[in-house]
Amino acid sequence: MKNKYGLPYFVLLFSLLLPNGFINARPSGKKTKLEFFQPGQSWPDQDGNHIQAHGGGILKIKKNYFWYGEQRGKGLDPKFRYVSCYSSKDLLNWNFRGNVVKMLPPDSLTAGWILERPKVFYNAGTKKYVMYFHLDDKGYKVAQVGIAISDKPDGDFKFVRRFRPLGHESRDIGQFIDDDGTAYLVFEDRPYGFRIARLSKDYMDVEKEMTLVKAHMEGGAIVHYQGLYYSIGSALTGWNANPNKYATAPTLEGPWTEFRDIAPPETKTFGSQSTMLIKVTGSRKTTVIFMGDIWRPKTQYDSRYLWMPLELGDGKLSLQEPKPWKLNVKTGESSMVESQITEPASNKK
Ligand code: GAL
Repeated sequence: MKNKYGLPYFVLLFSLLLPNGFINARPSGKKTKLEFFQPGQSWPDQDGNHIQAHGGGILKIKKNYFWYGEQRGKGLDPKFRYVSCYSSKDLLNWNFRGNVVKMLPPDSLTAGWILERPKVFYNAGTKKYVMYFHLDDKGYKVAQVGIAISDKPDGDFKFVRRFRPLGHESRDIGQFIDDDGTAYLVFEDRPYGFRIARLSKDYMDVEKEMTLVKAHMEGGAIVHYQGLYYSIGSALTGWNANPNKYATAPTLEGPWTEFRDIAPPETKTFGSQSTMLIKVTGSRKTTVIFMGDIWRPKTQYDSRYLWMPLELGDGKLSLQEPKPWKLNVKTGESSMVESQITEPASNKK
């Protein structure tokens, strides 16, 4: 007997028992299955809801990627701040794992307090997932990091403490894990520039400054690629896009080169702001993804993402004009999708 999909019923029944990937491929199945990245478009998770993981960070555990970010969905209780968690095996199709932080303001912080740019590190020694985030008051004067921990990647994370790393002001933060597994925090220190500092052994503190880059930049992101460190940051223009820039250095301590534009400056980074650089090392190639936020300050629930593979090597880095593209996380290869279609049926909810 056949149904409207032209498949025998036992095939459909069997598909329900298989892992998500197969179910997603069903023509009218409820799960969304994306084939390629569409920078700047609405990005549905597997339930068809626009991903809420702004100013986020990516953690890789074995073959699973976790994306943590600011949950700015509609209808949230304004007293709380939320951090969302999504998981994926291909960096494209994301499964919402819940809000892993739902937090009231800690001690003296009051209404309008800020929790932004969460980043999670996994500490193999303590087996704890350690989240750092920017914690602040309404006027962004407190300038601290907060730490919350969990035994599992999808929470719940419990708030531990807040402080200024190494005694310095800290607003936008970024995370960087070097090829040797060492974990670093990147943080913007308004009077001086931005700092890259190593975390303590248990990741519960910021222990050693590697460098102070005397450039007033935020949204700091680092990647180690072919023996060179590349750092990207944005200018301090709040929610408004600006031309993001990059510098390189042979070691994290520097010396860092001058900062140069990552994209034609008039495009203001194609309307986005840097958040993280994701290195995908596959069997054939390594792709470095620029992970940026396209903020919509009046409708934050609809803020978008700009993820694009970067062109980099020999000390040069550039972000090309955003286009639909594909990634194979196994081989590490990425390619542009040549068709002119901007909203293909397969990418619709
Ligand atoms: C940006 C920053 C965002 C947010 C915003 C508030 O500069 O990158 O994370 O703090 O300012 O205006």
